Parts: sequence; C-alpha cells; structure tokens
Amino acid sequence: MTDATIGFQSRDANQTRDADPSRDRNGAGSLSTPASDRVSDPAQVAELGRLLSNVTFVQAGAWLAGFFRRDSHASVGTDLAIPGYRDPCSDVPIPDWPWPERGTQTIESLDRFAAAGLLSVNRGVPTGSSADLRFVQTALGRELLPAFPLFHYRNGERLVERFPALPGAVRGLRVLDAGCGFGTYSVFLASLGAAGVLALDYDEDRLGRARLIAAGLRAKCVEFARGSVEALPIADGGVNFIFCRVVLPLVNHERTMSEFGRVLSPGGQALLMLHAPRYYLNMIKRLAPTRDRMREFVYGLLGLAGGAAFDLFGREPRWRLISGPFHLLYERAGSFGRLAARHGLSVDFWQQGVPKPYVWLRRSPAVPAVF
Ligand SMILES: C[S@@+](CC[C@H](N)C(=O)[O-])C[C@H]1O[C@@H](n2cnc3c(N)ncnc32)[C@H](O)[C@@H]1O
Repeated sequence: MTDATIGFQSRDANQTRDADPSRDRNGAGSLSTPASDRVSDPAQVAELGRLLSNVTFVQAGAWLAGFFRRDSHASVGTDLAIPGYRDPCSDVPIPDWPWPERGTQTIESLDRFAAAGLLSVNRGVPTGSSADLRFVQTALGRELLPAFPLFHYRNGERLVERFPALPGAVRGLRVLDAGCGFGTYSVFLASLGAAGVLALDYDEDRLGRARLIAAGLRAKCVEFARGSVEALPIADGGVNFIFCRVVLPLVNHERTMSEFGRVLSPGGQALLMLHAPRYYLNMIKRLAPTRDRMREFVYGLLGLAGGAAFDLFGREPRWRLISGPFHLLYERAGSFGRLAARHGLSVDFWQQGVPKPYVWLRRSPAVPAVF
C-alpha cells in the first residue's frame, strides 16, 4: 500500500483502511487475482507499454476483453470472424478485431498479447496447421484486459474537446482521481500537465493493475494510494481538482461530498461522472433469463430504488446481497445540487440526456462556516 507522499499533504492514511469498502457492482466482475498471476516481469511491463501506446493494439485488446468478459473460459484461435463484441458493462461499443482473420498480423498480435502476459498461449493443441497451434486463453492476466476498453473509452470520450477548460483546470496543479480503478484516467490527467495526480482506490487488485499500466506507459507524477473516497487521506484544501468517474453512485454521497468539499482548495474544481435514472432503466430493459442479466436486473431495481430514496427523501439505503453491503444510487440535478451546496460546492454544468452524465463542480472561494 502506498500512502500519499509527493505533493499531497497526507491526513492519516491509515484511518481509511477500515472505512467503507464499497465496491464497484457494475464493473468487470471478480477482480481478485492471485499475486502470482500478475504481470511483474519488466519485459512484460515494457511490452504492455508498447501495446498500450498503439491504437490498433488497444482496439484489439478491447475486442479480446469483450470476448473474454462474455465467455471467460474461452480460447481464441486465429479464426476471428466474429464481428464486434459489445462490452456489456459500458455504453461504448468495442471495435471489430482490427486485423484480417488468419493473417500473419493476427498471429503476431496474439503472440504479443501473450508476451505481455495478458493471455496465455497453448501451443499443445493438435489442430493441424502451425497457425492454428497458437491458441490463446484467458488464464494469465485475464483481468488486465478490461484496462484496454477503459483506454478506448478514454480516447472515445474526447474529454478535452468536450471540456476545453479541463487542461487549464489541472495544468501545474494537484489532482485527485477519486476511485481511479485501472488508473487510465489518472495517466491521462497527468498527461495534461498536472503537477501531481493522486490515484486513489479502495480495491488493491485494481491499484496493482493501475500501477502496472502507469509503469508500462512511463507515466510521470502519478502516485497511488489505497483509501476510501468517504475518508480521504488528504489534508484540508490539499488538492485543486478532483476527477471522479462513476464512483459516487456506489458510495455514501453525504460523506463523499463532504470529503470533496474539505480537500478541494478554495476555487478548486471537480469533474464527476454520475448515473442518471435511465442508466438503471436500461439495465432493467435488457432483461433476459440468464444469470448475468438477472443480476443486472436486480442491480437496476436497487439503483432506481436507492436513487429515489436519495432524490425524494435524502436517504441513502445500503443494500446487502451475498457479495456484501453496498450503495447504489442515481443522481438528479436538483437533489444533487442541494447536496453539493451543503458542502460548499456549486454545479457549473450538468450533462443532459445521457445515462452517465458528466457534472462540473466548483468549490466556493470562501470556506463555509461549520457549526
Ligand atoms: C466503475 S469503477 C470506475 C473506475 C474509474 N474511475 C474509471 O472510470 O475507469 C468504480 C471504482 O470505484 C472504486 N471504489 C468503490 N468504492 C470506493 C470507495 N469507497 N473508495 C475508493 N474507491 C472506491 C472501485 O474499486 C472501482 O475501481
């Protein structure tokens, strides 16, 4: 576990260790991989960096991630004729496999994914042609694969085009990526010239992958910390910008927004991605009699019920399923604006008409009185 040290005044980082372990219920499923399965060989890290810096490889990684997310025990040969998978966890489509099926580029690229430790290669399958012997399976590092679509989403989101104020809001300043996941946005924010990015997440496995990806990309100024957004290990006014993408719907809003208000410097800004009611409605509409779809249906219902409780009565129910307790809410401009105002934050922008709206917040210059 790394505590915040460079450029971020740390509150007691240890205090967050027992804080609310709210976890992503909408992500890629189980993320617990034995430490022995992690890519740690420097050559693999370097290969991973080379793959991530090439858009075509990122697209291929996105395709494979979608494939294995749908069928986690599958293997892939060189016959990649299946057109574009859709990642069920995102509204961003995964591109088609970018090379000709059975082409040498396909064989080489599968080998390179294997060399980076993202796939395992089984050369022992007796199938006839030498090309067909190169089957890849999900065994090693399969949970790294979701990092590829995240990169793809990041590019697809065109954040700088959509928010021209973003580079100016982070350049030369201290940034918190709250609930960083695989850290792809942390690296992106660092690339905009932030003086330092603190990438914080509660999930150790995700942080492990985030460190690996940041190393592969030779990211500078990104520091990782395990902690909860509900009890940030950061001093008052310790950051100038908070980026928080699809984390708030999963955690206690009052505590988290109180922390955001506390750690943002006066005049600081924040860009959050939230869940609109239609995000959960879409989950319900996709109902099909499969286990995964049933789970989505239940989460859709809980998200709507949680959001309504918050929106109408200011209550934040905590659900409990077999996997443990969790929050799940939607946000709407009115009740969210009032919540933000209670913590010295105002809403400058609210994206309309999308399942996952971006919201831009600003910390009032004067610290509000606390009684
Ligand atoms: C949907 S993912 C989003 C990840 C990343 N922000 C992105 O957009 O790629 C939600 C993330 O929030 C993290 N998370 C959930 N509850 C948290 C908490 N209380 N404190 C810190 N991180 C939390 C999860 O571990 C997960 O990585």
